[in-house]
Amino acid sequence: MTKFYCTTAIDYPNGRPHIGHAYEKIITDSYNRWYKLLGYQTHYLTGTDENGQKLIESAKAAGKDTQNYVDENVVFFKELCEKADVKYDDFIRTTEKRHHDVCHELWKKIEDKGLIHHGHYSGKYCLSCESFYTESQAPDGNCPEHHKPLDIKEEEGFFFKLSSFQSWIIDYLKANPTFITPKTKYNEILSRLEGDDLMDLSISRPNQGWGVEVPGNNKFVMYTWFDALINYYSALNESQREFWPADMHVIGKDILWFHSVIWPCILKACDLPLPKQVYVHGMVLAEDGKKMSKSLGNVVDPMDMLAKYPCDTFRYYLIRNISASSDGKFSEAELVSKHNTELGNDYGNLLMRVIKLSMKTLGDVNIDATDVTQEIDCSETFKKAKSFMDEREHNKAIETIWEFIYSLNQYVNDKEPWKHKEDLKQFKHIVYNCLYGMQAVTFMLQAFMPTTAASALTFIGSSLNTIDSLEFGKASFKLTEPVALFPKIEA
Ligand code: MSP
Repeated sequence: MTKFYCTTAIDYPNGRPHIGHAYEKIITDSYNRWYKLLGYQTHYLTGTDENGQKLIESAKAAGKDTQNYVDENVVFFKELCEKADVKYDDFIRTTEKRHHDVCHELWKKIEDKGLIHHGHYSGKYCLSCESFYTESQAPDGNCPEHHKPLDIKEEEGFFFKLSSFQSWIIDYLKANPTFITPKTKYNEILSRLEGDDLMDLSISRPNQGWGVEVPGNNKFVMYTWFDALINYYSALNESQREFWPADMHVIGKDILWFHSVIWPCILKACDLPLPKQVYVHGMVLAEDGKKMSKSLGNVVDPMDMLAKYPCDTFRYYLIRNISASSDGKFSEAELVSKHNTELGNDYGNLLMRVIKLSMKTLGDVNIDATDVTQEIDCSETFKKAKSFMDEREHNKAIETIWEFIYSLNQYVNDKEPWKHKEDLKQFKHIVYNCLYGMQAVTFMLQAFMPTTAASALTFIGSSLNTIDSLEFGKASFKLTEPVALFPKIEA
């Protein structure tokens, strides 16, 4: 069986999850469910990044012990997954022993190869990013991500010989042009690598009693990015190691350098295979197009949205409305409008109309393909949707599915089945075509809107819910009285 191992970034649990966390987990969940539907053996990892200095500072500010502080916050991240129907296979916390053990193992492996040395470093540092910036990255002395002045930080510690990988990583990227997707991000990283010299990376911090200790030297802990990246590998136990290398790391653009340069070099140093792809999604922005921030008062809390609206409405809105490869704005008003029109009218009402009319006319019978000829065909739609998913353009995949839904609505309007109640053969022919179309659409929608799709599949009572159901004539249907899938929301 072909495997598919996907991961999200692991989140800093220094507060409650925000909409970006929700977005990343939901789109990854959709890819995972999609490939599972297609018969892949899938594995989905998410988790929390708990070892950073940032966590020590935030816990201090909250007047809490660091461990209690992260324990409390991690609950919110798991709750988000539950409420958003994000079905991960594993949730790693980097304070777990399984993670520390593998970090030690890999550190020693790199050290044994002579790729770690002791030294001094001074540079411009951003605590929010937990990262140093070079002169060319931050010429004005401000963090390019947080736009705050960088601190000058002087450190003694251990360094990873990142500089020795420069030509290797450039060659690797050139030989693997889809390693970073989308192309714009690939080009950005490649040109930065070709323009700037790679510096050795400081991979330790003074031990303040929190973090993964450097093997053999407890005066230091590992730099949090060094340990955090390893989570993708450390989460797999012996029997799950066949999932390595990961097929797709899903991340936001702010952490691309770590994933597309530092992580591959760490793996190369350990003689481990590289992930197949780093997929970089866009950022979810506020309705005004600005970055969400408490001071601007434009923050949208995903838990509020999930309390107010059906989970699948929230999922659908994020998946379809934020472009897979660039930033997108979140508008609650637009979410409500899409719920009422695209979900309620185009999909929900179509299903309702067809089922109710059939039940009224044909009664409680099994509707199969006998005496029916094919007028609806979803094979092109599936092919297109599949290719968009393979290209990491989930918004276009769902758009393609919607085009098919529009054509089904058109089919019903053109064929006017209600006018054929006297000619049951013709009536059944139209209805079977519609039900086949609805089944096909719903089969694919299981990846994006699992609860809705499960209800819809129950209503149409299909005899088949495998990929074979996309083939016309294979399934038969035993209808059940439906309830509205997307009751209208007043704006
Ligand atoms: N802990 C690091 C990641 C380590 S991965 C080995 C981190 N954590 S984070 O909590 O700041 O961000 C987690 C993910 O959320 C990142 O992929 C980040 O890009 C993403 N997002 C943060 N804000 C976002 C939006 N507004 N929109 C979409 N995704 C966003 O970075």
